[in-house]
This record gives sequence, structure tokens and C-alpha cells, in this order.
Amino acid sequence: MGELRIAVFASGGGTNLQALIDATKSGGLDGRVSAVISNNSNSYALVRAAKENIPGYHISGKTHPEQKELIRRLLDVLEMNGVNLIVLAGYMKLLPVEIIREYRNRIINIHPALLPKYGGKGMYGINVHKAVLESKDRISGATVHMVDEAYDHGAILIQRTVPVLPDDDPETLAARVLEVEHRILPQAAGMFLC
Ligand code: GRF
Repeated sequence: MGELRIAVFASGGGTNLQALIDATKSGGLDGRVSAVISNNSNSYALVRAAKENIPGYHISGKTHPEQKELIRRLLDVLEMNGVNLIVLAGYMKLLPVEIIREYRNRIINIHPALLPKYGGKGMYGINVHKAVLESKDRISGATVHMVDEAYDHGAILIQRTVPVLPDDDPETLAARVLEVEHRILPQAAGMFLC
């Protein structure tokens, strides 16, 4: 495939984006983050991109009210930056199927639980950790998986566990899982090198 050129889609703080950038800078991941795309103009992920001189794009229903135009813009941005791997890292929107078809087998997502448990609609962010604690599971973790047309459904690439501790609240558990996410996401991206 040649050089790994990654587009990261993120809606929030972008610590997973940062983990990928840091891995490319330290030599842990042989590739580069070529574009950052957010549906949220206030996403700190876009600030991180600017700090690293990575092209950042706010693309959403606000910038592109017509879905067809939005898809066109996403495809243009991916193409103009030579992207060959899409990483969804805290992206709160469903990726349009047109993008999934165009980049089939080249899209991954990070999920803060051990899929197939705690996946699917409504299972994002802190909701996931609340559900894990309510179920009294003793183990949680993070999953990187391939993205297809169904929520949290594609083949699992890497999973790593963390313990759930007796005095955890959703925030302490989220922080423990996030540390693991930052380690496995660059590893999973590296699987696309060949
Ligand atoms: C992570 O827990 C990720 O798994 C999820 O949303 C969170 C994003 O964190 N789906 P960040 O924006 O990378 O800091």
C-alpha cells in the first residue's frame, strides 16, 4: 500500500488522535496523520491538528446541509490528502455508507469496551462505562475493530482488558480504559502497513 496516510475522524477531545500523532513522531507507527475531520467545530481534535500542522476540517450538517454535498466533501478531503486508512476515534456520527464502500477494509474504530458486549446504539462515551458498572462486570477494556455498515459490528483487530475496581465510578473506569485505547489504537493502525 506504500506509506500509511491516516485520516482521523473525531468529535471530542482527541486524545486518541494525539496518541496516533505521538506514535508517528516517536517511530512507534510508521505513517502519518494526514487529515483530521470533525463534525464539531469546537472539537479540541481540530486544535491538536492545527498545533501539529495537520490539515483539519470541520465537515457537518452545518457546513453541508445537503447530505450529497457532505459526502462529496468528505471524499474530496480524503482523496486530496492521499488517505489510505480512516480511523474513527471518538467520532459521534455514523459514517455515510458511501464512504464505507469507497474505503472498505480500510476503516477502523476504537470502542471503550470489550465488544460485542456494550456495543450498538446509545453505547458511547460514559454510557458504556455506566453500563459496565451496572452489570457488575469485573473486567472491561477497549476494542479496535473494522468498520462496516452496522454499528460496532466489524471484525475485531485488537482487544485489551482492564480490571474494574470495587470503588470505580464511570469516570475512573473511563480513564483506565482510555489509557489502554491510546496503546492499542496505534498498534491496530500499524496492522495496515505492508
Ligand atoms: C474514547 O473513549 C473512544 O473510545 C470513544 O470516545 C472517546 C474519545 O476520546 N468512542 P478522545 O476524543 O480520543 O479523547
